[in-house]
Amino acid sequence: MELIGRMLDGSLPYDVKAVLRPSEGPTVGQDEKIERLLEVPIFQGCSRRQLRAVARIAGVFDAPAGAVLTRVGDVGREFFLILDGTARAEVSPRKRVRLGPGDFFGEMSLLDGQPRSATVVAETPLRLLVINGRNFHYVLAEVPELTRALLATLSRRVRLAEKSLNA
Ligand code: CMP
Repeated sequence: MELIGRMLDGSLPYDVKAVLRPSEGPTVGQDEKIERLLEVPIFQGCSRRQLRAVARIAGVFDAPAGAVLTRVGDVGREFFLILDGTARAEVSPRKRVRLGPGDFFGEMSLLDGQPRSATVVAETPLRLLVINGRNFHYVLAEVPELTRALLATLSRRVRLAEKSLNA
């Protein structure tokens, strides 16, 4: 129990898969996954073929409140998209960003191969769509809407960071 507690609060090295459990049993059907994807704004304009491609390679997982999904400095291996619940990105001691349904995180390390830039913690129980690093690049190629959403999000973060530097 203590071991699990320390894995959840991030004080021990861990594999994020230890805090993720498959949502609603070991297999979520393709149709159900596609229905879930359609609830996420960035996937609403996608074709059935694109959605099938994402559903094939993405997993739907649950994580309990308090789970550490990414930890600053760790190697990043997964991309996460929040289906239900809220998480907080601890970007610096003074900067916390709340993430909710439709928001994603974990893309930065997969894009540039650098360690995780922030610790992301589940504030409530989360339902997540999880894509591993290798498949992430395939999804970006298959779903340009996701690439556009990523670029818009990264641009917004640069603007906010510049604003706070100049404030
Ligand atoms: P990554 O660096 O892979 O892992 C931590 C994640 O936190 C990061 O990807 C982003 O998805 C997210 N993150 C980092 N900085 C911010 C920020 N300023 N605002 C929102 N999310 C962030």
